[in-house]
Amino acid sequence: MNDRDDSLSIETLTAQALGWVDHDTRSVIPPIYPSTTYERGPDLTYHHDRKYTRADNPTYDQVSELLRMLEGGADAQLFASGMAATVAVFQALKPGDHVIVPENVYGGVRKWLTGFAHPWGIDFDAVPNEDVEALKAALRPGKTKIVWIETPSNPEWRIMDIKASAALAHEAGAIAVADNTVATPVHTRPIELGADIVMHSATKYLNGHGDVLMGALVSAGESELWHRIHEIAHDAGALPGPFETWLLLRGMRTLFLRMERISSNALAVARHFRKHPKVTEVLYPGLPECRGHEVALSQMRRGFGGMLSMRIAGGREKAVAVQAGVKVFKRATSMGTTESLIEHRASYEGPGSPVPGDLLRLAIGIENVSDLIADLEQALAAV
Ligand SMILES: Cc1ncc(COP(=O)(O)O)c(C=O)c1O
Repeated sequence: MNDRDDSLSIETLTAQALGWVDHDTRSVIPPIYPSTTYERGPDLTYHHDRKYTRADNPTYDQVSELLRMLEGGADAQLFASGMAATVAVFQALKPGDHVIVPENVYGGVRKWLTGFAHPWGIDFDAVPNEDVEALKAALRPGKTKIVWIETPSNPEWRIMDIKASAALAHEAGAIAVADNTVATPVHTRPIELGADIVMHSATKYLNGHGDVLMGALVSAGESELWHRIHEIAHDAGALPGPFETWLLLRGMRTLFLRMERISSNALAVARHFRKHPKVTEVLYPGLPECRGHEVALSQMRRGFGGMLSMRIAGGREKAVAVQAGVKVFKRATSMGTTESLIEHRASYEGPGSPVPGDLLRLAIGIENVSDLIADLEQALAAV
């Protein structure tokens, strides 16, 4: 990576995507390399060892390096989606291995483990997110290979103590993998707190514009498991296209700007509705009454992210009516878009979802927060 000055602040390095400038043309924005294949020399060698795009693509390099820097890791691997990144971690395990996940965890992880872990010979347990003692009791030394961390967790935004969980994992011979999608490296850097691998659904805040599906893993160091994960990425091929990768780099340049605005908007919304007569509870780690707030204060900085949930008085029917009444929020799943989204999460996840029916999930965007508060106020007033 040329023209890079590591003494600069992380915000500056991110805004400038590490200060990259093309050697030949001096273009500040990188090209997209759509080629799937690379010419081989008559002597059977490859230039820079590039052979075929499933092994790597030059468009990946800058975004991988930026993500590695943001998370303070040693290496990064891109994937076609957050779930492709997640599943690569589990697929790197061996039959007989055991995994521990928090009980409130992204529904896709729960769904994959429920459907596929046992046929793969992998056993798993779920423990309450905040309960370090329960995690300790669930660890099977020698058998447990991964402690999965998701904080704040989707969709209750519960906090898991990364430092304590990683330390316990290491004592038992396991590694700690942290889904940092919601906090982003702006708010939390799990590797600094002891995590071995950080997972991202780059689809969300890293990209920030709702137009890219991508995932990534960042490793704190070299290990046999990390080597296997790399091999799975290359051999199984759940990799992003160069155009998506280029878009992700464009989105990541504004990560700090967006997260600061999103987090301050979210805190203002959470504070405004915490005592609302039609809201029984606002779930947001930035509120002192939320369990996990103290741990959040210790492991999050610059704010608490853009995700919060509201439980609506009167139950599921009223919650559905509130989301039906919004005019500014978009009724859509996901998060990390510039526009704010509202979702009746239990019906999105479908039958068997553990999410309460009275819960509305809000993904706050970068709009003027007064418009967001007024929109929710009028939707609540109408039910
Ligand atoms: C916290 C979290 N982790 C992982 C994922 C999966 O990411 P993707 O949709 O990019 O596969 C999601 C998607 O919603 C998520 O919210």
